[in-house]
Formats: sequence, structure tokens, C-alpha cells
Amino acid sequence: MDPWLQEKFHQLTRHRQDHILRVVDLMAKLAEIHGLPSDQAYLAGWGHDLARELSRAELLTEAERCGIAIDSWFQKEPVLLHGPVAANWLKSRGIDAPLVYEAIYYHTIGGVGLSPLAKALFIADGVEPGRNFAGRQALEEAAYQSLDLGYGRLIEETISYLQSRGLVPHPYMIAALEAFRGNPWTKH
Ligand SMILES: [Fe+2]
Ligand SMILES: [Fe+2]
Repeated sequence: MDPWLQEKFHQLTRHRQDHILRVVDLMAKLAEIHGLPSDQAYLAGWGHDLARELSRAELLTEAERCGIAIDSWFQKEPVLLHGPVAANWLKSRGIDAPLVYEAIYYHTIGGVGLSPLAKALFIADGVEPGRNFAGRQALEEAAYQSLDLGYGRLIEETISYLQSRGLVPHPYMIAALEAFRGNPWTKH
């Protein structure tokens, strides 16, 4: 593994490292089942939360430095920037894999038209066995059946969780929900 990535990983808390390891594990399973390149699946898993422990202020500064467009949602919830920032860190280190970049960038907000790798990362992050919510197992199983189904159902779950806490989901996530509900292949 890239030594820089390894060093960043070791700077994280044990709790975060354990989460990342479970995400990597689930990415490996999803990659095998759905025929995704395993090297990209590993890299997306390893890299996705490298910026997760920066403070709100650090995330905003780092995002600006990286040239990331900071919309009003990012401004209000800078924690969402840990995806875009980590994606840019990897890129600037020469780990330049466009699908990995996309997967890491969008893992905090979702989106429409994401690649299967990005859907897999969104799912693995949300349903890894350390997550504790009713229906977690069913979502994991849906993802083994179909990435679109698992992704759509997790988007639904995430949005209802955010709304129950009085939070407004990012417009990309709402667009993903609308696309899922309008897709005849994932009707449920
Ligand atoms: Fe994350
Ligand atoms: Fe994560």
C-alpha cells in the first residue's frame, strides 16, 4: 500500500481505523459479487475517511486549498467535505484513479449516475457490520442482490434518518432518491 496512505490511516483513532477495515472488507465482498476491480474497491475503502477527523474549520480550509466548490450545504455541514477532501488528497499524491476519486468524493452526499464502485462504497460505508440500526442486515443483503437496490434503499434510509433529526439532506441525495423511486428495475 502507498506509504502516505498508510501513514494517514495510522493517524486516525482506533475507532475510525476499525470502521475503515470493516468497509474495506465489505468492499471486497461487493467487488467479488458484482465484478468490480478489487484494487479500486480496496483503495476506495482505505481512502474514504482519511479526512474524517479534521475539524470543521480545517475541512473548510483544506477544501478551499484543494479548489473544491463549497456549496451552501458544505458550508453549513463542513463534515460532508471529508469525502471531497480525501478524494483530492489521494489525487494530489498521484493516486489518480478517476473512479476511486468519484467514489470517495460522493460517499458523504450520494448522487445520480454514480459508478458501480461509488455505489458500492456508499453502501459499504453505510451498512458495514459496526453500524447499528434496524434493517442494516436487510440492506447488506439487498446490496449483494443488486448495487442499485442496495444503494437506493440506503439512500431512503439515510434521508429518513436525517429528516428525523431535523436535518436537510444534500440535493444530490434527494436527486438520488427521486431517481431510485422512478426506476422500474428497483421498484419495491
Ligand atoms: Fe465518511
Ligand atoms: Fe466511513
